[in-house]
Amino acid sequence: MSIEETTTSEIFDQLTAGFASSTAAASTPAEAAADDWRRTAVVYQVYPRSFADSNGDGVGDLPGITGRLDALAELGVDAVWLSPFYTSPQADAGYDVADYRDVDPIFGTLADFDALLAKAHSLGLKVIVDLVPNHSSDEHVWFRAALAAAPGSPERARYIFRDGRGENGELPPNNWESCFRGPAWTRTTNADGTPGQWYLHLFDTKQPDWDWENPEVRAEFLSVLKFWLDRGADGFRVDVAHSLIKAPGLPDLDPRVDDGPEVDTEGAFMTGPMWDQDRVHEVYQSWRALLDSYTPDRILVAEAWVQPLSRLANYVRPDEMHQAFNFDYLETGWGAAELRRTIDASMAANQLVGAPTTWVLSNHDVVRHVSRLWLGTDGPRPNGIRAGDTQPDYELGLRRAKASSLLMLGLPGSAYLYQGEELGLPDHTSLDDDLRQDPTWWRSQYTEAGRDGCRVPLPWEAGAPGLGFAPSEQTGLPQPDSSADLARDQQAGVDGSTLDMYQSALALRRAFKLGAGSLEWTAGRGADIIGYVNGEVTVVSNMGDQPVPLPSGEVLMASADLPADGTLPVDVTAWLVSADI
Ligand code: NOJ
Repeated sequence: MSIEETTTSEIFDQLTAGFASSTAAASTPAEAAADDWRRTAVVYQVYPRSFADSNGDGVGDLPGITGRLDALAELGVDAVWLSPFYTSPQADAGYDVADYRDVDPIFGTLADFDALLAKAHSLGLKVIVDLVPNHSSDEHVWFRAALAAAPGSPERARYIFRDGRGENGELPPNNWESCFRGPAWTRTTNADGTPGQWYLHLFDTKQPDWDWENPEVRAEFLSVLKFWLDRGADGFRVDVAHSLIKAPGLPDLDPRVDDGPEVDTEGAFMTGPMWDQDRVHEVYQSWRALLDSYTPDRILVAEAWVQPLSRLANYVRPDEMHQAFNFDYLETGWGAAELRRTIDASMAANQLVGAPTTWVLSNHDVVRHVSRLWLGTDGPRPNGIRAGDTQPDYELGLRRAKASSLLMLGLPGSAYLYQGEELGLPDHTSLDDDLRQDPTWWRSQYTEAGRDGCRVPLPWEAGAPGLGFAPSEQTGLPQPDSSADLARDQQAGVDGSTLDMYQSALALRRAFKLGAGSLEWTAGRGADIIGYVNGEVTVVSNMGDQPVPLPSGEVLMASADLPADGTLPVDVTAWLVSADI
């Protein structure tokens, strides 16, 4: 058995020499599929508010992102997904859009977007923008018009207004609750001061739901898609893609069978008359037809918390979206049997419809996997962690997070990274409650911390003001004390750093074409070991409580130092070539 470690850069150099020729134009349909970025890309999520601030106002912005794109190209990702930067009162961090065709002044201008896109494209990076079609802001011009118009008017028909129940309409039209807690209906006030109709908002009061039964709404969104496609955007991440169509008559939730819209922290999958209605697919078929008329290739990605996976696969049928986030994978903790099951089920469901599988561990809505995986597979995933809560074990969390990221990046399909995970950033778990911005915090009557902990500004340079996030000390949300040591400049070029691990993994993933590869489980290594082969690479993770023998072969890289005795330590993943399995 050889555990002699060839340096990543040596192997990378050898491989990239061959790689240049192997990327020549595809000549068969299978090769074409393998070269399709929409099946294999590693996509990096930028949350604009906290990525990089160019003007010192404490809020990240588009010029800030443009100025840091080189770092993402160096990291080795293929595409960048930008969370919303549209005109918005920021009641839900931009997921409350007041103008779908403009940039909010806090983020810059349309010219700044064009500059970002041009720079990204010059670096070979695709840019995916976030589209929020379930709801607008209550400050959208059409919602203002709806409030000013009479019940039954065409203006009101673009949203979901209904009379209340009860003798005087004093009760909400049905029993639905908001995903951010509290009722999903808000009552309006008529011009004469009397109470009026109610409107539906599956999220905050300031996020009224569009009525997708209305052809005018459908036409408007096709035009919005066209607006960004014509500007050169490479596609869309579609927010709450499973919620646009509601069941006819807006029936009450049946608490015996439905979880309802309330985000269940043990698994945020939701059932009920507001989710995953069959007719939602008409919408995506029309969007796909539009995207197919553009070159080069554009992408549609569904954010849909839908279960089972076979229902999720409906969103990626050949005439709909290209990808859907795999939240089953994100929800699976650190356990071999559970992960094997989820990976198998994900691949099987997607194969049935010919779609690529995606993988994701963190995003702007969940506790980062560094602060989550120390929990193993036990217990619910918390909706934010507060100072008084049990604090995560950072060392254990980081070790597992690195192992788990390396396991993920070896898988075929597309992978999504959330800004800062390449630095091993934890959630800010001692944030002052007074500073919280997530509406979940107050809508839950201050019982759920919500998502601010994973949204604090990135540390770029340890010695700079705001750790390089901004040209001033202003950072919007404060950064936790640990951020300075984790700053990008402290990790760049440092062997064994988290950044170094991600960079090497992405380079090897590209060189070995793992995204376009396949998966074959290795057998007989024990219940707590995950092992699989993807092309020339063998990936092994130890999720048990004892070191295990490493397969013989050449170690490409590992998520932690490997001992000289030929074993794979606990909570470590290794990649090997020429492995004897
Ligand atoms: C999902 C987004 O990821 C989340 O951040 C947002 O609050 C809701 N959709 C509502 O738009």
